[in-house]
Amino acid sequence: MSLVATTGAGAIILARTQERAAAVREADAARPAAEATLVAGVAEPVLRLESVCLSFGGIAALDGIDLTVRQGEIRAIIGPNGAGKSSLLNIVSGLYRPDRGVVWLARERFTHVPTTRLAAHGVARTFQNLALFKGLPVLDNVIMGFVHRRSAGFVRQMLSTREARREEAEARAAAEEVISFLHLGSVKHRLAGGLPYGIQKRVELARALVARPPLLLLDEPLAGVTLGEKQELAAHVRNARDAYGASIVLIEHDIGVVMGLSDRIAVLDYGRKIADGTPEEVRSDQAVIDAYLGVTHEGETERGI
Ligand SMILES: Nc1ncnc2c1ncn2[C@@H]1O[C@H](COP(=O)(O)OP(=O)(O)OP(=O)(O)O)[C@@H](O)[C@H]1O
Ligand SMILES: [Mg+2]
Repeated sequence: MSLVATTGAGAIILARTQERAAAVREADAARPAAEATLVAGVAEPVLRLESVCLSFGGIAALDGIDLTVRQGEIRAIIGPNGAGKSSLLNIVSGLYRPDRGVVWLARERFTHVPTTRLAAHGVARTFQNLALFKGLPVLDNVIMGFVHRRSAGFVRQMLSTREARREEAEARAAAEEVISFLHLGSVKHRLAGGLPYGIQKRVELARALVARPPLLLLDEPLAGVTLGEKQELAAHVRNARDAYGASIVLIEHDIGVVMGLSDRIAVLDYGRKIADGTPEEVRSDQAVIDAYLGVTHEGETERGI
């Protein structure tokens, strides 16, 4: 998604953003338990990046990134196109190996997160471009997200042991529950690929949520949907945190949504973290305003936000 910010348009965007954020916050006046944990500040971070660097052919996608995600918070990562947001999630989910730096998942330290055991470490994610099994029904897609919780091995599953049957029933029940939670009941037997894009985004969220992961990584879960769907999905993201207690890392370009939804926001630009703080702090940060108003770097004319 690309929204080109010129100086004038950028100012309007920021002003509208503030209005919309205020409206979202008003609607969110009674925020429950998760925030109490935050305020107390006693819980250790569920995710911590220390000095993470990653480059592609000499271009620094991430340059010395430090980041913490506290238990129960919605932590937004924002920044222009190519800033390094998806690369950061790809490092946390093990798809990319950092050139330098480490990732902590709760108390475990990784120089390369093992992507095949990601779910076992309590992490689930969605992708910037949908990664559903389009030829499978919604219910089966969601059940897929539960797979890691199964302990019965392949052979035992083939033999359909009692344990495997019990786990299958458990997966199905969990899937039904999250489908109902995200109001997907009416489409659960439909093939995922035939559904409108906004519904597919919700199915992907359901698949990520089904195993109740402590840490949920969402790469542009609201992108490409209609305004109505966007508000609905944003509410689902917040409900997921509130009801399931998940900590959420959210990449999103709509700054209005981000300001209203997030507890803290990290801003990336050219692979560096240029700001980090509450929505109020980030909103008034000069480096962020410059990045979003399209202040040009040498040899560049405009930025995509
Ligand atoms: N697999 C890859 N191979 C080569 N370059 C890559 C790869 N992944 C990312 N990059 C580069 O790293 C930089 C950061 O890309 P990244 O996808 O993380 O940005 P982003 O902030 O997610 O952007 P967008 O908002 O457009 O999704 C870009 O210059 C991109 O071209
Ligand atoms: Mg991206």
